Amino acid sequence: MMKDVVIGIIGGTGGMGRWFAELMRGEGYPVHCAGRRDGMRPEEMARVCNVVVISVPIDVTGAVIAKVGPHMPGESLLMDLTSLKEEPVRAMLNASGCEVIGCHPLFGPTVICVEGYNVILCPARSKAWFPWLKAIFERHRAVVTVTTPEEHDRMMAVIQVLNHLHTIHLGILLGQEERSIPALQPWSTPVFEQKLEMIRKIFQDQPDMYAEILARNAHLERICTIYRDTFELLEKTVRTKESSEIINLIGRTKEKLWPKP
Ligand SMILES: NC(=O)c1ccc[n+]([C@@H]2O[C@H](COP(=O)([O-])OP(=O)(O)OC[C@H]3O[C@@H](n4cnc5c(N)ncnc54)[C@H](OP(=O)(O)O)[C@@H]3O)[C@@H](O)[C@H]2O)c1
Repeated sequence: MMKDVVIGIIGGTGGMGRWFAELMRGEGYPVHCAGRRDGMRPEEMARVCNVVVISVPIDVTGAVIAKVGPHMPGESLLMDLTSLKEEPVRAMLNASGCEVIGCHPLFGPTVICVEGYNVILCPARSKAWFPWLKAIFERHRAVVTVTTPEEHDRMMAVIQVLNHLHTIHLGILLGQEERSIPALQPWSTPVFEQKLEMIRKIFQDQPDMYAEILARNAHLERICTIYRDTFELLEKTVRTKESSEIINLIGRTKEKLWPKP
């Protein structure tokens, strides 16, 4: 355990902020949480805490970083938990002169034990704090990947943009068929239930967060083009009504998805 570490979390009253606060309190560090109304103001937090964590909704992340960044002393750490990395990390570098690490836990705040879960770290300007943070996640047996914000957002174009685009599309399609989810439930298979749960998470829990994740990823245009072109190919294939054509398409793709060693 590193001595004299005091952690401040802007957004510590919300889901991921609370999760990170628990993790750090478990490590024995004092943690101060702030929201819009409660807790320290940015200037005070930068003075009292040598680690300040940004965990606020994506659309206000830049503004919050701009408020706290200039007050951070050079030897302190400014980090975030945002689901995107290019914009927030650039903002943290520009607003401060201190150490900067982008962090994206690839799970939601209901995860209690991080063992086996993926965590992305982007050490953008860091010497002392990076080994400290990485060691904490590794001690809890999280799977840590160290990368750049650019690579992170390129991978999230698949894991988040393509994936959520697909789920939102399915939700809209179900709505167009005028089938309510409760009406579909007695007819559902286990796999369909899993898909309904993904739709529910986006449409009911946090539509704002998912909208920001799509809208702010620099690769959105490319993903939309792939999505449309691929559906055209699939549509053309199924409309032949030849099962062999469909099997062929699946077979060609299977080789790409699981290449032979
Ligand atoms: N949820 C996930 O599954 C997940 C997973 C990985 C990463 N993330 C990332 O984690 C971050 C937080 O997401 P979340 O799901 O924890 O959101 P959340 O539950 O809505 O919490 C947002 C927090 O931000 C605070 N806040 C809102 N506006 C603020 C402002 N203008 N100034 C200061 N504080 C403000 C809120 O405080 P008050 O309400 O008390 O004012 C609350 O503590 C986002 O960047 C998200 O991309 C989320």
